[in-house]
This record gives sequence, C-alpha cells and structure tokens, in this order.
Amino acid sequence: MAIAKNEAQENWENLRREMPLAAAVFEKVRSLKGRFHVPGHQGVGLEPLGSRWGTAFLDDLTELEGLDNLAVPTAAIAEAQRLAAKTFGADRSWFLVNGSTVGLQAALLAVSRMSPRSRQKIIIGRNAHQSILTGLMLSGLCPVWVQPEVDYEFGIATHMTAKAIAQALADNPDAGAVCIVSPTYYGTTSNVEAIAQLCHKTNIPLIVDEAHGGHFVAHPCLPQCALAAGANIVVQSAHKTLGSLTQSALLHYQEIPGQTNSNVLEDSLSDNLRLLQSSSPSYLLMTSLDVARSRLQSHGYQDWHRAIEMAQSLGDHLSKMSNICVLNYPNQDPTRVIISAIEKGWNGYDLDEYLDQRGVAVEIGDSRAIGLVITPQTCSQSVDRLIQVIQTLPKVQENAVKIPYRQRQARCEFQTVLTPREAWFSTQKSIDIRNAVGEICAEWVCPYPPGIPVLLPGEKVTTDALEFLQTIRAIGGELSGLLDPTFQTIQVVLKRRQ
Ligand SMILES: Cc1ncc(COP(=O)(O)O)c(C=O)c1O
Repeated sequence: MAIAKNEAQENWENLRREMPLAAAVFEKVRSLKGRFHVPGHQGVGLEPLGSRWGTAFLDDLTELEGLDNLAVPTAAIAEAQRLAAKTFGADRSWFLVNGSTVGLQAALLAVSRMSPRSRQKIIIGRNAHQSILTGLMLSGLCPVWVQPEVDYEFGIATHMTAKAIAQALADNPDAGAVCIVSPTYYGTTSNVEAIAQLCHKTNIPLIVDEAHGGHFVAHPCLPQCALAAGANIVVQSAHKTLGSLTQSALLHYQEIPGQTNSNVLEDSLSDNLRLLQSSSPSYLLMTSLDVARSRLQSHGYQDWHRAIEMAQSLGDHLSKMSNICVLNYPNQDPTRVIISAIEKGWNGYDLDEYLDQRGVAVEIGDSRAIGLVITPQTCSQSVDRLIQVIQTLPKVQENAVKIPYRQRQARCEFQTVLTPREAWFSTQKSIDIRNAVGEICAEWVCPYPPGIPVLLPGEKVTTDALEFLQTIRAIGGELSGLLDPTFQTIQVVLKRRQ
C-alpha cells in the first residue's frame, strides 16, 4: 500500500515538474467538492456535448485558487511559460489564447509604443498574413512593403531575401522594426539569421511570424527556428503543428544583442497582451499548450522524425505520378507537402473539393496547388486514402483556369495613399466594384487561404487587382476582409478623418 502511495505521489510530482499548469488543473478538479463559479456549466456538459467531449468540461476552469492568472502570472502559469521559454530558447514566453493573431498585434503595438513619433515605420514582407494588417490598423504603424520572391509554377510567395531587407533598411533608416513571415503557409523559409543580423546592426528588433513553424526546434532536418537564428519577437501557432488546441499559441521574446533598454520592449509585449487578451482565458487552451510543450521537449525528436519520414515517402510517391508536381524548395519544411495537379487541368480549389468529397480534408487549396500538413499525429490510413484518391484523379478535358502572369503580378503592385489605420478610421462609402478603380480602398481584400492581401486599407484600387480578385472568385476561391462577401461592392474612403 505504502509503495503504491509513494508511486502515486511520485507521479504527481513528475507531472508538476513536467507540466505545471496541467498538474494544477488536474489537482484542482480532484479537490473540488462543490462548485459555484463560472464557467456556468460547472463541469457538467450540455448534451450532446457532455457525452461527446467526456471529461473536458471538468478541466474547463477559471482563475480559481491555485490556478494562477494569465494576466499577472506568478505560479503555475508563470512556471509553464518559463518552461516554454527554456524549450524554445527564448528569454521569455507568453501563452496566447487568440492564436498568433494576438501575438502579432501585441508585437506591432509594442514597436509603435517604443518608437519615437518620427520612427513609426515598420518594414514588412508583402506576403504578411492578415493578422499583421490588423496589427497595423491597431498600432497606426506605417508599413514599408518589401516584395518576397515568388515561385510562378506554384504561384506562391516563397521567401524574403536579406538583400531586399538590406535595401529597405538603407532606404528607411527611421524604420522601428522588420517583420517577416517564415515559414510561409507552404513551408518555405527565409534566411532569418542574415535578416536578424541586418536588423541588429541598426539596433531594431526582427519580428518573425513563425505561425507554421513551432515544431522547427524539434529536429535537425527541419529548418532552423527563428529564435536560434536571432529573431527578437517570434509567434508560433502551437495549435497548427504542436498538437495543442485551436487558438492556443506562443509569443517569444529574445533581446537584441548588446541592447541596454531591452526590457522596454519585453514589458510592452506583456502590457499589450493584457490589453488584447480575454480576462477569461481558457484553461483548456493553456493546459493544452503546457502539455504540447512538454511532449515536444520529451519526445520531439522521435515524433518529428516519424512525421518527416512519412512526409518524404508521401512526397516521393506523389511525384512519381504523371502530371502531379510536388513543391521541392531549398530550406522548405519537409512536413509541408504542396501538390499541383494543374497539368491535369485541376486548380487547387477544385482539387481540394474533389478530395473533400471523398473524405480527405487538406489544409490549403489555392488557385494552383493544395497543401498538406503532416504532423506526428497524421495517420497512415490518411496517407493511403489520399494516394488512392489522387491515383484516380481524372484528367479534365479543358485546362484549368491559369491566372495570367500579369494578374498574378497584380498582387505585388500597389500604391499606398494613406496608412492602413488612417483608411480604416476614415469616413467610408460602399461602391460598385465596377466604379472602384482609382478609389482608396478602406478594407482588406485577401484570397483565403493563404490569407495574403491583394488590397489593403489606404491603397489605390487598380484594374489588375480587381481582375485578379474576380478571377480568384470565379475559380472557386474565397475572399476575406470584405464587408460584402459577394464582392459586388467594396468599401472605399469617402473622407479622411481630421
Ligand atoms: C502565416 C500566418 N500567420 C499568422 C496566422 C494567424 O495565426 P492564428 O490562426 O494562430 O491566429 C496564420 C493563420 O493561418 C498564418 O497562416
């Protein structure tokens, strides 16, 4: 009996050490004998969720005694965040409950807050996700856009060159930060190390949107992670690759080498998260982050080794099929398998739908390709089913609509008249898109996926941009950011706010 008790105690101690927040939650649930608190379900799930979600309702707690507080963490959450910083190699890490989105917004607000009025500029890759744009609207920062490199066969932005960033820094010595996306949705990466060095020469932080690369730290065959490459603010959607629940994500901070007042930026990140995050953060999300971090630390190498092997074998298999192309880019995340069947007459939207109708759900379907996310949780039955369905993919008679080169270029050409914030807060009117050319756009218009905007608030509406967006809709793509989702009308600036 005594031995069994010791063992149980030891298990709890291990759990507390390895997953402090998970342990605090489980212990709390065990100790509760009467519940009179929010959330109002008090551990009892409404049907049919109660039966379907099992005991998850029990763990859905709030800031009860012993469970710490995300806004001012001093106990279990503080310890869980400290372990996250250690695992990922950061000076400090924060749990996020509104995805990488809130991390990027907090980062841009921090840059704005710490930069003098004369330095309210930020250098950003034009393939930024819409969450960065919302950060621009909130912060009022003025973007200096830099064009990423593009792979025209797959129709995707691949990476940002250090040369392009160096030029932007030379042209804008008053910029307060640089922000890039690496990896992209498609797993292609930039030379973060070279870009970080450029930023540090001018003493400004590099923000890396690593939403899709939380797992990079796990295995040497994965691209170098942004923190190891020297980035200063990094966001990771843990929910995308690390197995935590949807919306859970991480923000990491690492000081600029040799900078003396770096705690200003660190404190500002903390403040901004308090400003933006819910006062009732989900303990399910936070606990899942704690568990995912622990798993990464204890089994990351083995887990991701398996995932890499699975993805490579799938990629090899698919690339041997006639008229199927698999993206193979230098420094690409091997666990992102990007396939084009355009030579068989299938654009990404139609291929996505074809697969979906046969029970196979993929992550991305865009104008040319589809993207598969392979993780340690991907099962071999899924892989077999995908191969089976692709094998039966017929060649369609007419060729898939190929977006003309000029229109694809349109997403790279823009004319900024107002900052995104100025346009967002202007007096606006809704006009027919046939009359919109030359007007100043007041909303963002972006094909989703991949969530990269073609028009931003403050930019002139051009014929090329409209034609490109209409083609995207015509071939089955969706546009996000619009007040009118049918894209018959668009919001434009009527009068700038004084
Ligand atoms: C490149 C990129 N950055 C940021 C985000 C936002 O991440 P989250 O959904 O975790 O808020 C996404 C979401 O898809 C993304 O693809």
